[in-house]
Amino acid sequence: MCDFGQHHHQERADFGFLVDAPEIRALVDDTRRLTAEIADTAARVEALRPAFAKLLASNDWLPKEYGEPDLKSGMGGGIGQYALYRAEDGSLCLFSLVIPSGSQTPIHDHLAWGLIGVYRGVQDETVYRRTDDGSDASKAHLEIARQQTVKPGEFYTLLPPLDDIHYVKTVSATPSISIHLLANDTACVTRHRFDAASGVVTPFRSGYSNAKCADSLP
Ligand SMILES: [Fe+2]
Repeated sequence: MCDFGQHHHQERADFGFLVDAPEIRALVDDTRRLTAEIADTAARVEALRPAFAKLLASNDWLPKEYGEPDLKSGMGGGIGQYALYRAEDGSLCLFSLVIPSGSQTPIHDHLAWGLIGVYRGVQDETVYRRTDDGSDASKAHLEIARQQTVKPGEFYTLLPPLDDIHYVKTVSATPSISIHLLANDTACVTRHRFDAASGVVTPFRSGYSNAKCADSLP
C-alpha cells in the first residue's frame, strides 16, 4: 500500500499543473472551454488569441528555474523545456522553452495545433514548407516559407500541416523564453528533426527538463 501511494504521488507530480499559478489555470480553463465549444481548429486557435496574449503580458507567474537554460537538455544547445501544465490524456500541454543567447533549435515539427509566443528575449523564427508528398518517411524536401523576428508579447499559431516545421534562434543577448500551448504532450511525442540540406528526417523525442514521459523514457 505504501508503494502504491508513492507511485501515485510520482505520477501526480509529472502531470496536471506543475506550476499552479492563477494565470496558467485561466489559460487552461479557456482552452478547455473553447475546445468544447469550437469544433473548427482554426477558429478555436483564433479565439484563444486574447487568453494567450494575456498570459504573455502577465508577470511573476513563471518560476525563475523554469526560465533558465538546461545544460543536460534533450534538445541540445542548453535548451530547457519545462512543463507547466500537462493533461494526463496527452491532449494539451503548456511549457516554457529556454534557448541560450546564440543557440538555436534543430529544424523540427510539433504535430499539434497551438500557439507559441515569446515571453522574454528575442527569437528569429524560420518556417519551412514541405514540397515533397511525404510518402518517404525518412526524407523531406524543404523550402523556406518565411522568416520573422518575434519579440516579447508577440506570438504565432500552428495549424499542422501548415507552418508546422520551423526552427528558432535566440538573437537577444539574454536567453529567450517562449511559451507553448499545444494540443499534445509535445516533449513526449515522437516528432521529427529535419536536415534541410540533405533532406534527412530523423524521429526524436525532446523530453521535458522537469517531468518524465508516461513510459519513463526521457
Ligand atoms: Fe517549435
